[in-house]
Amino acid sequence: MKMLPTRQNVQKVLSHFEAKEGLIYLNGQVLHERDDTDVELPFRQESTFFYLTGVSEPDFHVIVDIATQRIELYAPALDPDAVVWMGLPDSIETMKSKYDVDEVLYVTDMAARLSAASVVYTPPIAKKDGLTAQWADEKLNKALYAAICEARAVKADWEVDLIRMANKISSDAHVKVMQMSASNEADMHAVFLYESARHGAFFQSYQPIFGAGKNAATLHYNRNNAPLNNPNDVVLVDAGAEFNCYASDITRTFPVGAKFTPEAAAIYSIVLDMQNACFAKCKAGTPWEVVHETALQVAADGLLKLGILKGDKQELLDNGVVAAFFPHGVGHMLGLDVHDVGGYPEGVAKIDRPGYRYLRMRRTLAAGNVVTVEPGIYFCDFIIDPVLKAVETSKCIDVDMLNKYKSVGGVRIEDNILITEDGYTNLTTAPKEIDQIEALKNDAESAAKKRKAE
Ligand code: GLY
Ligand code: MN
Ligand code: MN
Repeated sequence: MKMLPTRQNVQKVLSHFEAKEGLIYLNGQVLHERDDTDVELPFRQESTFFYLTGVSEPDFHVIVDIATQRIELYAPALDPDAVVWMGLPDSIETMKSKYDVDEVLYVTDMAARLSAASVVYTPPIAKKDGLTAQWADEKLNKALYAAICEARAVKADWEVDLIRMANKISSDAHVKVMQMSASNEADMHAVFLYESARHGAFFQSYQPIFGAGKNAATLHYNRNNAPLNNPNDVVLVDAGAEFNCYASDITRTFPVGAKFTPEAAAIYSIVLDMQNACFAKCKAGTPWEVVHETALQVAADGLLKLGILKGDKQELLDNGVVAAFFPHGVGHMLGLDVHDVGGYPEGVAKIDRPGYRYLRMRRTLAAGNVVTVEPGIYFCDFIIDPVLKAVETSKCIDVDMLNKYKSVGGVRIEDNILITEDGYTNLTTAPKEIDQIEALKNDAESAAKKRKAE
């Protein structure tokens, strides 16, 4: 892989940090073994360490000299036992050519460097066990963490390119999943992993969700093992591969059979309208709550028009009835982590109200933010039953109409967008119009029929 220009990231963090001298220290992730065994867990670098160094190997450390902006990378000392099993690690010279740092040393040189410094700042995640230094106080370390979050929130062009690549791999995998004929959620999960890995994405950004029928109503369902018995069911697939530690987070919802039922198509169309209305608000300067409120408004209009909800629109929004069908936030920051840092800048509090409680983000959008836009409508008994039972809200839902649409389970549509000064760029290419999806499902049906005939 080409050297990533991570020095820019270090400089960006320093530009947000008030301290003008001393060191910043951060350890990288170590290799873990499962419980009481020698079975290694998959290694994933800690995100901020990757941000500052581009290193995706275990047991590294980094020190930044704030005054000179000099970056020193400390590699694990050569361990003859490890070489027997894992082969020779990179030489110091190779590491110097791979990483955007000033110096590469072995970790045996690190303790003296830290203990000689006047002050050492660390983000809260750093592990300092066994190291002696003049550690900065908690308030300054928090300021460093805030500087890291602000830096990570505005993506450089090359970071956007990596997120775009993760999106391309995942969008193509979503298409393959729509085109396949599957008899179990697990078939789809397996194909998604296969398509990701063969295009260089060995990690998923999160546990993928493959939920058919009622399972689509569970927001983070991940058992992914139910049979697909009913062609009228929809399947909700929320899956995104990671590429070079950068995430994608994409949801598509499509029928098990070749066509959406009229009920599923009606709910799907409301969710697509919600997403398009949100997109129209997305540009630098828009507070994220405005985007979320837009999704709630369009959901209210759509559910009223179908006759599932009754009464005054504003009342339905204020009393949480609309939120019972759209209980989560409309999106979040995306980057090295799927729910990336920076959603709540310093001093911004959560809103404790139905519909707003689960907002993962409350920032004013800036050019360079990458966010998800993921409205949904769900028929989840656990959430809707209390609304039906409460005296003040029971009159707001038409039970016959609710029962007519309930079997749709859940629909979510999720894309990843880059915010620009006057709008946005959509990084997600997976198709989502009803006719596009039905054409892909048709491919699946034809392939299945052909196989049967052979
Ligand atoms: N896949 C998790 C989310 O959509 O936030
Ligand atoms: Mn998702
Ligand atoms: Mn998401």
